[in-house]
Amino acid sequence: MELNILVICYLIGSVTFIIGLKMLSHPESARRGNLIAAAGMAISIFGTIFLYEEDGLKLQNYPWIFAALIIGSILGTLAAKRVKMTAMPEMVSLFNGMGGACAALISILEFDHIYSLIKDGRDSDHSILLIIFAGLIIGTISFAGSMVAWAKLNGRIKDFSFQGQHIMNLLIFGVIICLSGYSIYSGDLQIHTLFYVVFALSIIYGLFFVLPIGGADMPVVISLLNSFTGVAAAFGGFLYNNPVMLTGGILVGSAGTILTILMCKAMNRPLSNVLIGSFGGSKSSAASKDQGAYKEISISDSAVVMAYAKKVMIVPGYGLAVAQAQHVCHELEKLLSDKGVEVNYAIHPVAGRMPGHMNVLLAEADVDYSSLLEMEDANDVFPQTDVVLVLGANDVVNPAAKTDPSSPIYGMPVLDVELAKLVIINKRSMNPGYAGIENELFFQPKSSMLFGDAKDVLQKLVSEIKTL
Ligand code: TAP
Repeated sequence: MELNILVICYLIGSVTFIIGLKMLSHPESARRGNLIAAAGMAISIFGTIFLYEEDGLKLQNYPWIFAALIIGSILGTLAAKRVKMTAMPEMVSLFNGMGGACAALISILEFDHIYSLIKDGRDSDHSILLIIFAGLIIGTISFAGSMVAWAKLNGRIKDFSFQGQHIMNLLIFGVIICLSGYSIYSGDLQIHTLFYVVFALSIIYGLFFVLPIGGADMPVVISLLNSFTGVAAAFGGFLYNNPVMLTGGILVGSAGTILTILMCKAMNRPLSNVLIGSFGGSKSSAASKDQGAYKEISISDSAVVMAYAKKVMIVPGYGLAVAQAQHVCHELEKLLSDKGVEVNYAIHPVAGRMPGHMNVLLAEADVDYSSLLEMEDANDVFPQTDVVLVLGANDVVNPAAKTDPSSPIYGMPVLDVELAKLVIINKRSMNPGYAGIENELFFQPKSSMLFGDAKDVLQKLVSEIKTL
C-alpha cells in the first residue's frame, strides 16, 4: 500500500516537472511554474524519505537526512535571495555543480556496493557497471567544469590555456572511455583501482575542458554542463529504478541541450567555436576600419526629442544590467507614456549575459510584459519609430552582423535600430562590447551618443522630462 502511494508521489513529481517546465517558457507563468515543480519535488523527496522500503526495511539515518535538508534549504534560500541579477550565471553554475557532484557520489556509493558483491563472487551481471561509470564520468565532469565556471565568473580565476590543450583533452577523454570500457567488460578485481583512476581523470578533464573558454562565453558552457548534470541524474534514476529521478534528469538534460543550441544560434556561432573560444576580444577588420566622427547629444535635447515623439523604442543591453538601472528605466517609460508617447522595449535573445536576462531584469522593475517586443516583432516596428534609446547594448545593435562578412558576429541576427528616425546610444565610452569589435552604428548620421552610466543618465532624463 505504502509503495503504491510512493509510486503516485513519483507520478505527481514527474507531471509537475513537465507542467512547471512548460510554464517557465512565459514570464507571466514562470514563477508559478517554478513553485509547482518545486512542490512536486518536495512530494517526491518526502515520499521517498517516509514511504520507501526495501526488503521490509524503511530508510533510517533520519537525523542525518533532516540535518542535510535543513542546512541545504537555509543555504539555498539565502543564496537565492541575495544574488544580484548579473551574478545569476555564477549561482546557476554553483548549483549545477552540486547536482553533478550528487550524481557522481551516487555512482561512488553504488560502485562500492557492487564491488563488494564482485569480491565475494556473488555477482555475475556487470551491466550495471555501465550505468555507474556513465553517472560517475558525466557527473564529475559537470561538477569540476561548473566549479571552474563559477570561479571564473566571480573573478577568482582567469582563463587558462596552453598549446595543444584541446588535443590533451581529447586524449584524456579517450583514456577515460577505454578504462571504463575495460572495467565494465572485465568486471574483475582490478576495477576498484581503475574506477578511481577514471574518477580522477574525469575531474582533470572537467577542469581542462572549461579553463580555456572565454569568461563571457560561460553562459553557453553552463547550459551545456547543466545538460550533463541532467543526464548524470537520469543515470541515477536508472540505477535506482526511480521514475522521478529519470524524468527530472531527462528534462534537465534535454532542456539544457536545447538552450545551448538556441544560444549558439542566436549568436550565430557553432558550439565548437564557443568551446574553442575564438570569439571575444578578437580584432576584426571592423575594429580597425576608420569609422569617422561620431555625434554627441545632450540630456536636455534627448529629453525633448523623446517627450515629443510618437513612438519610442528602448533597447536594453548588458550595460543596463551592470548599472542596475531597470527601475529608473521603467520610471522613464511611465513618464513618456503619461505624455502620450508609445513606448516599447526591443528584446534581443542574447542581450545581456544569460538567457532571458533582459526579460528578468525588466520584470524585476514591474515592466508590463506586453511592452516587451521580441526581435522579429521589434524589427518590424523600427521603421515607424521616432526615437530608439539604446541602453548599454552594443553587439546586439551592430549592423556589421548584416553587412561585414569579415566580422566575427557576421550572420548573428541583430536589432535593426538604424531603420528608426533617430538613435540615441547610451554607454560610458567608445569601448567595444562583448565581441570586442567596434560598432559602425555609432558613426551613422542618424546616431547620437549619450555618454554616462545608464542609471545616472536615466535619472537625469527623468528629471529633465518632468520639467517639460
Ligand atoms: P555588449 O555587446 O556586451 O555591450 C554592452 C555595452 O554596455 C558595452 O559596450 C559597455 O560600453 C556598456 N556598458 C557597460 N556598463 C555600462 C553602464 N554602467 N552604463 C551604460 N553602459 C554600460 O552587450 P549586448 O549588446 O547586451 O550584447 C550581449 C553580448 O553578450 C552579445 O555579444 C552576446 O552574444 C553575448 N552573450 C550573451 C549571452 C546571453 S545568453 N545573453 C551569453 C553569452 C554571450 P561602455 O564600457 O563604453 O560603457
